[in-house]
Order: sequence, then structure tokens, then C-alpha cells
Amino acid sequence: MDGYTLTHTTPTRKDFIDTANFDQSEILDIIRLSRTVRSFIKEGGYLNSMYHKSLAMIFEQKSTRTRVSFEVAMLQLGGHALNLAPGAIQLGAHETIQDTARVLGRMCDMIMSRVDRHDSIEQLAKYSEVPVINGMSDRCHPTQGVGDMITIFDHWPAGKHSNQIKVIFVGDATQVCNTLCDMSTKMGMHFVHYGPENHKISDEWLNIGKENAKKYGGSAIWTDDPACLEGADFIYTDVWYGLYDKETPKEEYMKDFYPKYQVNDEMIAATKNPNVKFLHCLPASRNEEVTDSVLDGPHSAAWDEAENRLTAQRGLVLYFDNMGQTTLDYIKEQKEAGGEAQV
Ligand code: CP
Repeated sequence: MDGYTLTHTTPTRKDFIDTANFDQSEILDIIRLSRTVRSFIKEGGYLNSMYHKSLAMIFEQKSTRTRVSFEVAMLQLGGHALNLAPGAIQLGAHETIQDTARVLGRMCDMIMSRVDRHDSIEQLAKYSEVPVINGMSDRCHPTQGVGDMITIFDHWPAGKHSNQIKVIFVGDATQVCNTLCDMSTKMGMHFVHYGPENHKISDEWLNIGKENAKKYGGSAIWTDDPACLEGADFIYTDVWYGLYDKETPKEEYMKDFYPKYQVNDEMIAATKNPNVKFLHCLPASRNEEVTDSVLDGPHSAAWDEAENRLTAQRGLVLYFDNMGQTTLDYIKEQKEAGGEAQV
């Protein structure tokens, strides 16, 4: 299939709450759309597919990448994003999440929210008439997962089939780890959570990975044995301090993770793969979970990964606004015409 044709030409679901609700073909559609739009824009093309469309962004927690990538994505597609920061709207003070969802759904075309608790994003989706995108909850980080998979596709190990690719998430089983387990196994890869037993990935998420592996190949395991590092194609880590709204004290988490689970030059060498790539969702606590030498070094794809948050958000807003196939048709037409891209 070319980059211009989606398997599902209309969205299969109203909302993007959790990647685990989507099958491989649906995720591949979003990735295909995101990458094709990226190429078109990087080559100087302009799109107006979201003209006059508005995205309400509700943040219960701070954010750099998620906020900026959605805002820029909407701008680049001819639409607008509203940043509804904590304290700026009635939510949480004088208005329920259900009523907020109803009102925003009457005024805006889409809602994206970063929430403290996963139930809040479920409530927003239930009570809003418009698509709702999860910008991270305590359960999962699906938009990060799309950007991560795009980055893995961009840095695909030469000559390997997906069933030969090993993705290791090191350290704390954060919501990013959960989504990576789902996404990597959904693409048929081998997923390993390498971390201490008291921070291991939940059985629920490991079973989601194992069920994916039955359908698509690959595997999903947890281990605290460093022997797992050998043969890794991707080493991924996240911060050790836990959820933003209930951070663990540094002395506690350092006891659990340091030095064994720090991604440093020795860990990269232990993969015995000269082409291994390092990934981090960011923000990073430099020289805690990852050393400067790795984050800034030749194996790091973390900055490409950060940029791919924007790649993913463009694809996601187009897909869930039902503008995915129309946009791809337009891009194809422009390419075939060989002329200047216009709206
Ligand atoms: N990775 C990520 O979600 O970054 P922000 O917290 O800055 O949005």
C-alpha cells in the first residue's frame, strides 16, 4: 500500500484515549498519514485541512512537548488551539468535567487533555460530542506512543523484519512504558521491561503485549536481569520520580534505580549493537536515568523523537477530524501535478 491510502478511510472510533483500543491496521493508518503529511510540509507544501477548526487543550499538569506540538500542528493545518491551563477555566473549581465536556463539545471541534487520572479523560470522551485525545493520563500516553513508533520507523534497523527488533524500556514502568509495550508488540516487535521488581510493568499491560504478540509475532516480558540488554535495537527510558502530581522523593527513587538502571555508556555497550538507538520521551533528569553522554551522544534519537510529537499530532488531529484520507488525496494530487502546493 502506498503512503496515500488509508486502510480505514474514516476514523474507526470517535476518541483516541488508549492505543490498546486500536488494532495494528488503525495505528498504521495514523502513522502513514503522519509521515506523509510530514514529508509534504518539509518539502514546502501548505495544508489548510483544519481551516477554522478549533482544538481545546485542557492541561491538569504542566507540559512542553504535548502543548507546543498540538498548538503548532493546528496552526500548520489552518486551525487554532486554545490552551486551557489549570486555574484558567471553571473546571476543577466551579464546574464538573462532564459539564465542561458538554460545553467545549458545543464550541470546539476537538478536545485534547492531559489529566491526573485516567477516568477524567474517559468522562471527557463520554460527555463530549467531539473527538477527545488523551494527552497523557496516569494509565497511558498514546500520543507519545504514536510519535515513538514513527521514530522507530524512521530509525528502522537495516534489513530487519519487525519480529527481529528488540525494544527495551529501562527503569520505572511509567505510562510511557505501558503504551510502548502495547505499540511495539502491536507492530510485531519484542518488548522488554528491564526494571526493579517493585516498579515492574503491571500484569494487565504485560498481558496486552502478550496478546498482541499472539496476533502479530514478537513477545513481551519483564526482567531485572541485565543479560536482556544484549541485542537491543532500541533502549528507551523515562524519569524515575513517578507521576507529576505525586512525585517520589529523590532519595527513595535513587535507592530503587541507581546505578543499575541508569542508561549510560556501559549500558549502551552491553547491548553489543553498534547501531542501537536511545529514546526518551523527555523531559529528562540528566545524569539520573540517562547520562549526558548518551542523551547527547551518537546513539540518541531522542531529539528526533521530540520532533515527532509534532509529526504525530498533525496525523492525529487530521485522522480524528475525518480529514485523513481527504488530506492524503490532496497531497497525492499535488505531487502528481508536480506544481506548487496550494490550499
Ligand atoms: N513527553 C511529554 O509528554 O512531554 P511534556 O510533558 O513536555 O508534554
